[in-house]
Amino acid sequence: MFLILLLVLVVLIAVILRRNSDYWKKRGIVQEDGVIWKFVFGNCSLAEVYKSVYDKYSEPNVGIFLASKPALLLRDLENVQTVLAGDFQSFYSRGISFSPDDKLADNVLFIEDFGRWKVIRQKISPVFTTAKLKNMFYILDRCARDFSENIADHVDFKRKPFNCLYTYTAASIGASVFGIDTKTKNTMDSPFLDMTSQATSPSFIGNLLFTFANTFPTFFKYLGLKAFGQYEKFFIDVVRNVMDSRKKDTVNRHDFIDICLQIQEQGIMKDSTTGYELEPSVEILAAQAFFFFVAGVDTSATTLHFTLIELSNNPDILNRVHKEIDTVFEGCDDKLTYNDVEKLQYLEMVANEAMRKYPPIGLIQRKCTKPTTLPVGNVKLLEGDLCIIPVYGIHRDERYYQNSELFDPERFSPENISKLPKFGYLPFGEGNRICLGSRFARLQVLAGLAWLLHRYTLVPQTLKLERFEKSVFSLRVPDSRYDLVPRN
Ligand code: HEM
Repeated sequence: MFLILLLVLVVLIAVILRRNSDYWKKRGIVQEDGVIWKFVFGNCSLAEVYKSVYDKYSEPNVGIFLASKPALLLRDLENVQTVLAGDFQSFYSRGISFSPDDKLADNVLFIEDFGRWKVIRQKISPVFTTAKLKNMFYILDRCARDFSENIADHVDFKRKPFNCLYTYTAASIGASVFGIDTKTKNTMDSPFLDMTSQATSPSFIGNLLFTFANTFPTFFKYLGLKAFGQYEKFFIDVVRNVMDSRKKDTVNRHDFIDICLQIQEQGIMKDSTTGYELEPSVEILAAQAFFFFVAGVDTSATTLHFTLIELSNNPDILNRVHKEIDTVFEGCDDKLTYNDVEKLQYLEMVANEAMRKYPPIGLIQRKCTKPTTLPVGNVKLLEGDLCIIPVYGIHRDERYYQNSELFDPERFSPENISKLPKFGYLPFGEGNRICLGSRFARLQVLAGLAWLLHRYTLVPQTLKLERFEKSVFSLRVPDSRYDLVPRN
């Protein structure tokens, strides 16, 4: 009986997977089969698999399948612009859905529901204005300084530098969300480290869940599978407790909890154009705070990691970075300000080039929500079709970046930055769903690098990165190493 059932199931899955097998061919679009299986059964990141398809063809669009779901891999920047910005009404969704009971995942800004996304984004965006970031900067500076003091014996750093960087970004996001307790001696002892690292590290189950959620979204919802179920109670309780204790506090700490209280005081969140209303409950606000960890910790640590790898590979660039950092620290009395970070122009060029060569999020996905046509190739897309923007492939495309394997921060110099291809530099995405935390991430990365390279230098080495960890969205090399030595 069991065998018969298993056979029926296998046949059923095979029929589902085959039912659309000439979907793109029928529309005259080149088609590459089996792409998602190369990821599922292979040993590299999905971004690398997409890059191999990107490099193989010269046509502007390549039809692929995510299991049975048709997806169009975009190779032309005009189509990328249409999908990310120009035709937002048809592409507002990422096509990733969660069960409505999943209190953390279903309320974060990644959600499908347009009305809910818009009203939350409107309310949360002011967290990252220049004025708010200036007020908050003392937290980032304190964490970056503690981080550079903490690695004084640098044994852990030698063993696994990525873990130390991850500790720093988790601690500084934790402190920016919950504030720094006046009794805290070392901000690196963050209680959220384990939770964040479990929630963001790629795993076999995580990769499988993503493939399943993408292929059978309705079934995934129906099963009530929760992406972050195990952290739900812990995290919502922490946010509730901290908010309650802050209500008795008169000091303004300029962290996210302060902003949550202001949002709650303003009452129901309402979008005047859609009329959508949402109560700023603790669950909704906790989900945003949780998402800052999920979206920001690994990506920022990865940016720091790739930047340090390239600096250890390029001693001349490292020298110039040291000179700039020394000049800024000469005038800052061991306390960086927001304005000091603004002076680290070359360091920023270096970090930007690191995100060009190794975009921490190597691909972006959108779902077509109403039938539309892409300008290049005149491709008609139907509701439910996915579009893949292969960021890693675009960032290494010789058409846009000559000598694309070369690490060259000059691509981002004030003279050259305007020459970057439109919609061809996408570490933070583009359009209405562009990364909400990009300005925060920039400060966190620059402050971390500035404090680290103020105290240490890197031992020159030649490290060529050939392969990345198996992961759905990210490009990661957590095991790669380099060595720090204290500066004289
Ligand atoms: C270097 C670090 C970071 C990188 C490379 C990065 C990259 C990205 C990318 C590629 C997206 C998707 C954009 C799209 O689909 O068009 C995204 C979305 C998002 N990121 Fe980041 N991110 C970083 C740090 C952060 C931080 C620190 C936060 C919060 C504190 C954050 C919050 C978000 C949010 C809320 C979204 C969803 C926006 C929406 O759908 O409206 N990110 N990020």
